[in-house]
Amino acid sequence: MPLQSDVKPLADEVAEFYHATGDADPTSLYHRLLTEEPVHKTRFGFWIVAEYADALTVLKGDKTIRTAPPLAHPGSPEDELNRHFLSRKEEPDHGRLRRIVQGVFSPRRVRAFTGMIEDTVREVVRRARETGEFDMANDIARPLPLSLLCTIFDVPLEFRDAMSDALANLILAYRPAGAPEGAAQLADDSAQLVIDKIQSMMDSRRRDPGDDLLSVMLQAQADGAEISDPEILSIVAHLLQAGTQTTRILLTNGLMALLEHPGQLARLHADRDLIKPAVEECLRWVTPSRTLAQRVAIDDIEVGGKVIPEGDELAVWVGAANRDPKVFEDPDVFDVGRTPNPHLSFSTGTHYCLGVNLARLEGNVVFRVLLDELPELEFSKSELVWGESPMRPMITSMPVRVR
Ligand code: HEM
Repeated sequence: MPLQSDVKPLADEVAEFYHATGDADPTSLYHRLLTEEPVHKTRFGFWIVAEYADALTVLKGDKTIRTAPPLAHPGSPEDELNRHFLSRKEEPDHGRLRRIVQGVFSPRRVRAFTGMIEDTVREVVRRARETGEFDMANDIARPLPLSLLCTIFDVPLEFRDAMSDALANLILAYRPAGAPEGAAQLADDSAQLVIDKIQSMMDSRRRDPGDDLLSVMLQAQADGAEISDPEILSIVAHLLQAGTQTTRILLTNGLMALLEHPGQLARLHADRDLIKPAVEECLRWVTPSRTLAQRVAIDDIEVGGKVIPEGDELAVWVGAANRDPKVFEDPDVFDVGRTPNPHLSFSTGTHYCLGVNLARLEGNVVFRVLLDELPELEFSKSELVWGESPMRPMITSMPVRVR
């Protein structure tokens, strides 16, 4: 037990976490926030909301809370690109735009991708049987979500890698604790590249429409739906970004969680019906977006007994809410049979994730095929390569050996 004086002030630990890298383990910080100060004002001026009930208050409190405006400087390419991201829009614009795209992500429509996901994983399995290993991050978790979204928008093959790298660079600038040097310029250059590519896709799709989602939006516009070119451009970029980074984390970090808990893995091997709840438990355990796009109080509001003054920003730490013992029994136990599991990994309220059905399908099919085809998998934590953001715990390389 450390002496009282050895315990770092909570504010220091929070500030350090914002400067950490992707491999930082937030579990003990989640506990401190939940037990000591569930609504905590950070050194950076914004508030952290950690408890589940308070997270619901903020995420559903449409009358008093708005999403914070983009961090980008007005008029920059980055601003142009993310100004119309659905997650930053308010009603009625948010609903107007969401309605135009949401049909494509219904359970029925996304189920059509089952075969494509199975084929991708089986091809990796085939090669892994020859070489004895595969890289979960680079062979499955990065390319699969990207190629599904690129299929949905019919992104030309030659654009895919450049756009995916550029969209990943954009996130680097979003660091409340201060972006790394050069990040703002990199984000602007990356935004410009994405804008150019999507603009050229829009031009060619106007000349030669297909049945992809970009053509659907352009057709809706031609038929009189209220949707502008800058809105279409932002939505394409947003979906490509939102649908790839997070799913990639679910797949790699979810597999890691399963392999680190052999008893739970054995339960899955014995009973495939557990795959569905296991994917939900991976979502809770990993929480791919540990903190959500910041909200701003548009009136003085009370959250968890504290008054948040009008104009202050709030960061909902869904990673901590997903470990709240008031809602989850034994929250630090990884239990593939956990039911119910009302995790907030897809958020809640008006900005509830648009891609839940696709993300869940990917998790379920990838883990099912891997378990069926390669019952004995091994990995070593020391071989993992982690990304830079502690709020998005991205693994960029994960060698897995097969037997
Ligand atoms: C495991 C995978 C995924 C996770 C954990 C995840 C998580 C989230 C979260 C937490 C939000 C809400 C953000 C907020 O309230 O500030 C969100 C919104 C969103 N997600 Fe996902 N997401 C995933 C996959 C996808 C996929 C595959 C798509 C592709 C279509 C997608 C598209 C979106 C969009 C468009 C929004 C904004 C919705 C709105 O504001 O109305 N997501 N996602």
